[in-house]
Amino acid sequence: MVELLPSILSADFAHLADQIAAAERGGGTTIHVDVMDGHFVPNITIGPPVVASLRKATNLPLDCHLMIDNPNDFIAAFAEAGADWVSVHYEACPHLHRTLEMIIHHGMKPGVVLNPATRVDLISEILPMVHHVLIMSVNPGFGGQEFIPFSLDKVRQLVEMRRKLRLKFKIEIDGGVAHDTVAQVVQAGAEMLVAGSAVFEPGRTEHKAAELLRLARAAAPSL
Ligand code: DX5
Ligand code: ZN
Repeated sequence: MVELLPSILSADFAHLADQIAAAERGGGTTIHVDVMDGHFVPNITIGPPVVASLRKATNLPLDCHLMIDNPNDFIAAFAEAGADWVSVHYEACPHLHRTLEMIIHHGMKPGVVLNPATRVDLISEILPMVHHVLIMSVNPGFGGQEFIPFSLDKVRQLVEMRRKLRLKFKIEIDGGVAHDTVAQVVQAGAEMLVAGSAVFEPGRTEHKAAELLRLARAAAPSL
């Protein structure tokens, strides 16, 4: 089943609760929260205090995408703030297995993220531990960037790895997912679609989310 994860990076940060409610009415089922530290990526966004506020504003699961160096130092804080899913970058974790164990130990669902230039076969050993794999289809740091087409091959490779290994992790994709790219993303096999700029627009968020989800589901391969 294809699902939409609205990324609040493109929302109006002064009205997050209202914007999330609109995205939920449009069919969003998990809220994607982009955490940036100005080191791992060239931008700074939000951290655990905002996640704690979001936790009170919505019942939807919070999917925290950590684009930060040393994520181990913050896993407990995100757990305490109420994060449900925590994804860490392969590129930021020299001891990825340990980091994923920490996330599990804190009661959250672990995910691993791959930058566009990182090969999917590098994570084969840890796939049995993860709840989801997030394929970045832009270089992380900003919303509204153009979709990188070779990301589709990475999604297809991951679908094949999951089949061969008989695993059940979810395949998430993030970056440039919009009305003109969503069909190919879904056809490649991505199930959890993160979208920011294609969803959030004052007064139109509910409609844009619903339309993106409609296009995604229309493209989904029938079982
Ligand atoms: C980029 C973030 C994305 C971002 C996507 O570093 O990880 O979640 O919000 O934005 P769009 O959907 O506008 O490409
Ligand atoms: Zn993200």
